Amino acid sequence: MSTPETSPQETNAEAGSAKSADRAREGSGGAAPREGGNVSGSGEIPSFTITLKVRRYDPEQDSEPHWESYELTMHGTDRVLDALHKVKWEQDGRLSFRRSCAHGVCGSDAMRINGRNRLACKTLLKDLDIKKPIVVEPIKGLPVEKDLIVDMEPFFAAYREVMPFLITKGSEPTRERIQSQADRERFDDTTKCILCAACTSSCPVFWNDGQYFGPAAIVNAHRFIFDSRDVGSDLRLEILNDKEGVWRCRTTFNCSEACPRGIQVTKAIAEVKQALISRKL
Ligand code: SF4
Ligand code: FES
Repeated sequence: MSTPETSPQETNAEAGSAKSADRAREGSGGAAPREGGNVSGSGEIPSFTITLKVRRYDPEQDSEPHWESYELTMHGTDRVLDALHKVKWEQDGRLSFRRSCAHGVCGSDAMRINGRNRLACKTLLKDLDIKKPIVVEPIKGLPVEKDLIVDMEPFFAAYREVMPFLITKGSEPTRERIQSQADRERFDDTTKCILCAACTSSCPVFWNDGQYFGPAAIVNAHRFIFDSRDVGSDLRLEILNDKEGVWRCRTTFNCSEACPRGIQVTKAIAEVKQALISRKL
């Protein structure tokens, strides 16, 4: 479950992130770096100055969003998430964003970084053009609640609609439901989804029409439609045959490019379309 920066669970999550940043530095240099870059012990982690430009919006104070810039000294092992933490902890405690695992697993820190949807915890600063300001803004197509936090409910409503759970019939087996390796392989790619919304919020159709199910819901329907143990495929396909379903996809590939898990999202959508055609629903 993702954790807004402003929630009471903040302390644990922040502690976890700080530890992970320390671990990352330890992995590269052997000890936590001092400001300026020199590290005692083995090796040296370079430090550099960046400008982080963040789109800010506080509904209690602002009539509309605005940009704020922060000068930060960061290190070669730091990620955009570390830069956001540094702003929050050292310059402006009101800055709000979601994060939990800090390791690309929970999917809570998807945001637009330099115009592209990415996870802040998986985006190393050194891989960006640090000579220019690093621009961070909320993902598009979902209502902004505060700063980088968006209302994810429309996204999860579409997810729930495709029934993302195994539907079976007959009596419960006494042991597990057996499946061949080949059958399991059929939907392996779409099991990797972490529901970060990077794909759906990079889709122009979703930006223009919030009714579209969006790539993530289709990916999660795909995961069960092609599961040999499931008997609910026809039902899910009927749902996605809706006017706001798979046929709205314009194959722009934004979703596949945005996915931090490397899921072939556009391919999954094409396979669902193909299943609809071949089953003649
Ligand atoms: S398919 Fe990829 S980008 Fe889309 S929600 Fe799942 S993990 Fe995120
Ligand atoms: S904080 Fe969990 S995926 Fe980035």
